[in-house]
Amino acid sequence: MSADILDGKQIAADIREELKRRAAELTSAGVTPGLGVLLVGDDPASRSYVTAKERACEKVGLHSQETVLPASASREEILEVVRGYNADERIHGILVQLPLPDSAMEADVIETILPEKDADGFHPVSVGRMMLGLPAPLPCTPHGILQILKRSGVTIEGAHAVVVGRSNIVGKPVANLLSRKWELGNATVTVCHTRTKDLGAITRQADILIAAAGKHNMISADMVREGAVVIDVGVNRIEDPSAKRGYRLRGDVDFEAVREKAAAITPVPGGVGPMTITMLLQNTVEAAERVVA
Ligand code: GUN
Repeated sequence: MSADILDGKQIAADIREELKRRAAELTSAGVTPGLGVLLVGDDPASRSYVTAKERACEKVGLHSQETVLPASASREEILEVVRGYNADERIHGILVQLPLPDSAMEADVIETILPEKDADGFHPVSVGRMMLGLPAPLPCTPHGILQILKRSGVTIEGAHAVVVGRSNIVGKPVANLLSRKWELGNATVTVCHTRTKDLGAITRQADILIAAAGKHNMISADMVREGAVVIDVGVNRIEDPSAKRGYRLRGDVDFEAVREKAAAITPVPGGVGPMTITMLLQNTVEAAERVVA
């Protein structure tokens, strides 16, 4: 079997067309949706994510504003930028690119964002509301994964979903969303992590396997059940002097081997990545719609 390739880029383009219409409607009502971005430090991967997010805003008709602080910025300097975005009525969504150079500051910084402007769905209020099944901005990568599954016709209800990784950004929220009693949920979910014993024995039980461990090629073909749907969340920079930038982006899944076994698989790049950005745009548009309503 050779797997269907789940084309996140195409699904993202379809959703962005819809968002473009919604943004245009808002603009004609006098409110252009605005995203305030804060980047601290000069990590090249973070810089390129932020640039991609801002370009996507522009293409969909959102206004974006960027602030860059040096890696040495103090907690107070960072919080001042967030408070400025909170008070700015042109800004409907706020994104602080993570990780911060000092990760100990992250909780305070995220908590300073007004929950109604939480474009990432990382604020404890958003996370709590999501857990309770209340309306909330959903974290972008998990929501993007669910949209890929839904729009590719994958049945989530009743499936055994195995999530490899337990990060706050992906593993924990995607496990919660998949198990929720809602349209895109009702799966039976197992969460695996670095202390899991005999990982392969568990991943081989997955109808839907979500690889979000941040480790290149950690999911080999022998860890995947014939006919599984595989979602690769990994974004690993692999050095390659023949590549334009000197590296290639590769996932957590051994793509060439696993595609021979899976029913469907997301590529890296062009799978989950474009969906993450799209759901960020969606959260920002929805925040602006709430202001107009
Ligand atoms: N770092 C890695 N992924 C993300 C994301 O989705 N949002 C933010 N703010 N930082 C990230």
